[in-house]
Amino acid sequence: MSAMVELGADAARIGREAFAVRHALRGHELLALDRLVELSRRLPERAIEYNAGRVPLSLDPARTPRTGLSVEETLRRIEDCGSWMVLKNVEAAPEYAALLSECLSGVAEALGEPLGGRAAFIFISSPDAVTPYHVDPEENFLLQVRGRKTIHVFDPFDRRAVTEEELERFFSGRHPHLAYRDGAIGTPFELEAGVGGHVPLPAPHWVQNAPEGPSRSAGLSDPAIGAPNARPPF
Ligand SMILES: [Fe+2]
Repeated sequence: MSAMVELGADAARIGREAFAVRHALRGHELLALDRLVELSRRLPERAIEYNAGRVPLSLDPARTPRTGLSVEETLRRIEDCGSWMVLKNVEAAPEYAALLSECLSGVAEALGEPLGGRAAFIFISSPDAVTPYHVDPEENFLLQVRGRKTIHVFDPFDRRAVTEEELERFFSGRHPHLAYRDGAIGTPFELEAGVGGHVPLPAPHWVQNAPEGPSRSAGLSDPAIGAPNARPPF
């Protein structure tokens, strides 16, 4: 069976730098809109986060604008409702856990080592929606399933992009949003269906959805990915 995430020699770059990958999630039935609506009804409320999509690059989480729409309205009207949504930890549903496992097993094979706990998030966003500048708690892949977006990934070892104090606060439990500062150099990766990007820990990043249509992406992570290869994050 061919790998869901095509890594090849790029496996050695995991945890060190951002890079683009090809993957086989495009058109997967579990990521169709109707299946995501059904999934959203089964997830606990705390696992669904959504808000207005046109937000600044640096967003104070307390000032996150809401839309007044329900989860299902947001999903059904994503083309024109100006929203951003994430379904978190969808591995709580067995069929999504199986898909996640299928994807990350290939990654583990390419790395030649077992992986630890795994998590999958699904992002649904309207045209022009922005995911503000932030840092994630784990190495991850963002795999584009439908539509186009650009992810700007910054050097995980550049303390102009994220300071030691910000990292300490984040890993002590603070919100992942960061204040973007001019001077840090990010690399843009253009994602279209079938293309994804690896985000090493703790690389700050932000995402801009393309203007012509909505998009869906799967975020797959594992605390163990790349850890043996990575320089210490602090
Ligand atoms: Fe992220």
